[in-house]
Amino acid sequence: MHLRKMTETDLQQVLELQQELAFQDWNEKQFLSEIRANYAYCVVCEDEESLLGYAIFHLMGPDSELLSIATRESEQRKGIGSQLLHAGLDKLQEPDDQCFLEVRNGNVKARAFYEKHGFHLYNVRKNYYSDGEDAALYRFSRESR
Ligand SMILES: CC(C)(COP(=O)(O)OP(=O)(O)OC[C@H]1O[C@@H](n2cnc3c(N)ncnc32)[C@H](O)[C@@H]1OP(=O)(O)O)[C@@H](O)C(=O)NCCC(=O)NCCS
Repeated sequence: MHLRKMTETDLQQVLELQQELAFQDWNEKQFLSEIRANYAYCVVCEDEESLLGYAIFHLMGPDSELLSIATRESEQRKGIGSQLLHAGLDKLQEPDDQCFLEVRNGNVKARAFYEKHGFHLYNVRKNYYSDGEDAALYRFSRESR
């Protein structure tokens, strides 16, 4: 199992994984523009057979953002998400560099995952998602780690 940068040839498997987990509904064009954007860091985890997970960050100086992270259902809770997350967080260089993210309030698994990795809840945005669910906003900083 290893990590590497996402390429356009991964798109099919990334879309399948997103569909399998049903946590987001980005289309091919959206993933493609992330892969091509120079401020985006898109990483996948794979074994010899298939793609096991991916993460997409925007690395933008002091304020970075985690846009998406996912691990194949059958491979969850084996540390893959943590490896993907740290691939991005390790790129925060300065002490006051931060990483932000938003997550559905009811996404208990992901919230536990982020909190385990030192993200702190700093706000809740009411009715943020189209179905009316609130968004929990988290921040990570190297200093408050
Ligand atoms: C969030 C996610 C990426 C974590 O990936 P992962 O590969 O399972 O992560 P790891 O194995 O590195 O970390 C596991 C940690 O996540 C949290 N976690 C994972 N599954 C959990 C569950 N069912 N219940 C509670 N906490 C859970 C725990 O903190 C756990 O640590 P522990 O095993 O020591 O208790 C994965 O659950 C996922 O793909 N979810 C669906 C997509 C999603 O919701 N993405 C985030 C949208 S913003």
